[in-house]
Amino acid sequence: MNAPALHIHPDPDTLYRATAERIAALAASAVERRGAFFIALSGGSTPRGLYERLAAPPYVDRVPWANTHVFFGDERCVPPDHPDSNYRMAHETLLSHVPIPSQQIHPMQVALASVRQDAARYAGLLEQRVPHDDHGLPIFDLILLGLGPDGHTASLFPNTCILHERSRPVAAVYVSKLHAWRLSLTPPVIEHARHILFLVAGRQKAEILADVFADTPEALPVRLLQPTGQVEWLVDQAAAQQLTSARQA
Ligand code: 6PG
Repeated sequence: MNAPALHIHPDPDTLYRATAERIAALAASAVERRGAFFIALSGGSTPRGLYERLAAPPYVDRVPWANTHVFFGDERCVPPDHPDSNYRMAHETLLSHVPIPSQQIHPMQVALASVRQDAARYAGLLEQRVPHDDHGLPIFDLILLGLGPDGHTASLFPNTCILHERSRPVAAVYVSKLHAWRLSLTPPVIEHARHILFLVAGRQKAEILADVFADTPEALPVRLLQPTGQVEWLVDQAAAQQLTSARQA
């Protein structure tokens, strides 16, 4: 596994712009090499600022939207117009503002009736729409990920079965502390992305980010991942304030 790169930016605006720049470059490279760019977006609140910048000049003009295919890394099991919906957040901040063909946007649809069937349906969509490798895994060019205060990423929460899911590409997971079901890409799919960008901002993430980069063998979900591609952490100074000076060199 490539050693993860850590980029620390002085403030959220600089962080979001640098991340938008990176995404635009990865998208252009993927389209140049393979004719298309397959990305899985992350949810939560941190990416809002990123998506807003991606939807505006100069970055909006640098992404080859006509050849971009948007998926989601995870979703809350709520309707698409619910305030907690990751799709709604991405639609409001990015997808409704850019010239991407609607048939190239693939929300995780949750019928609420059966979350396991919803997971299987999204797995089938990945099977149809995302290029696969020799192991039968969908290969995203880029998976955007956040970091929760408990070390979760996507919906790979501590002490949940999805952490050990190695055969299915998408799974439903009940998060007891949230009293809620979620859908999520599973570890093998995340691990096999060509690029993973972790986006972390704010002093409330300083402690968990320091834990992630600590030398202690703490079994945080994000540390259980064994990515095969390039991993980059893009963080702001507030989130990095507890990293050792060695890490900030
Ligand atoms: C979600 C995300 C989740 C998120 C982290 C951080 O659906 O909430 O996929 O993994 O990235 O919880 O969330 P914040 O950016 O809101 O801190």
